[in-house]
Amino acid sequence: MSVDLYAWAEELDSLHAHAWQRLVRGVHDRHAPARHPTLATVSPEGWPQARTVVLRAADRVNRTLQIHTNLYSPKIAHLTATPIAALHVWDSRQRLQIRLHADVEIGHGAAVASTWSAVPERSRVAYSRSQSPGQLMHTALAYEAQPDQAAFAVLRLHVRMMDLLHLGPNHRRAQFSRDLGWAGRWLAP
Ligand SMILES: Cc1cc2nc3c(=O)[nH]c(=O)nc-3n(C[C@H](O)[C@H](O)[C@H](O)COP(=O)(O)O)c2cc1C
Repeated sequence: MSVDLYAWAEELDSLHAHAWQRLVRGVHDRHAPARHPTLATVSPEGWPQARTVVLRAADRVNRTLQIHTNLYSPKIAHLTATPIAALHVWDSRQRLQIRLHADVEIGHGAAVASTWSAVPERSRVAYSRSQSPGQLMHTALAYEAQPDQAAFAVLRLHVRMMDLLHLGPNHRRAQFSRDLGWAGRWLAP
């Protein structure tokens, strides 16, 4: 691979823009690495809790991301107690690790009705109150559930900080934070 392929990693602005571009790509391309980021929350007992999710929206202008989830899943209890999360993506083709911190807002009910109406029928079964993720069952497949809009939640992540590590011919790492007006700074990788 030529060095030029990674020209975007050489300047702070282009590196930052490229990371957002890769996040947006994840929303629209089911094969893109950012389609399935790892979302980490903190349990009320202080345990880190990481799980794969689907990235549903990425808005570079407002610096927000969206994830759909079951309102009765354990992560909602974590986020209610501690409304912050970390998100991780390893984009191997781009040799780029994206890590970010975000404040998380939980949307449900009427506030997310229009989003629910766009959820395909086959995907709606993940949203049920009677069979919530993590619930104990007597047998492995005893989870037939009726889709229920009341169990549908949208996590809106307001990005606070982004940490980018590029493992190209040269290793580069930069951090961009809301507190510093999104002016990036280079860090030792
Ligand atoms: C490929 C893949 C995609 C997933 N997408 C989502 C998702 O978009 N939202 C979600 O809540 N869980 C998703 N899950 C399930 C979560 O990883 C997790 O098992 C579930 O949300 C329960 O997590 P919790 O107990 O921490 O709340 C996905 C799992 C995989 C393997």
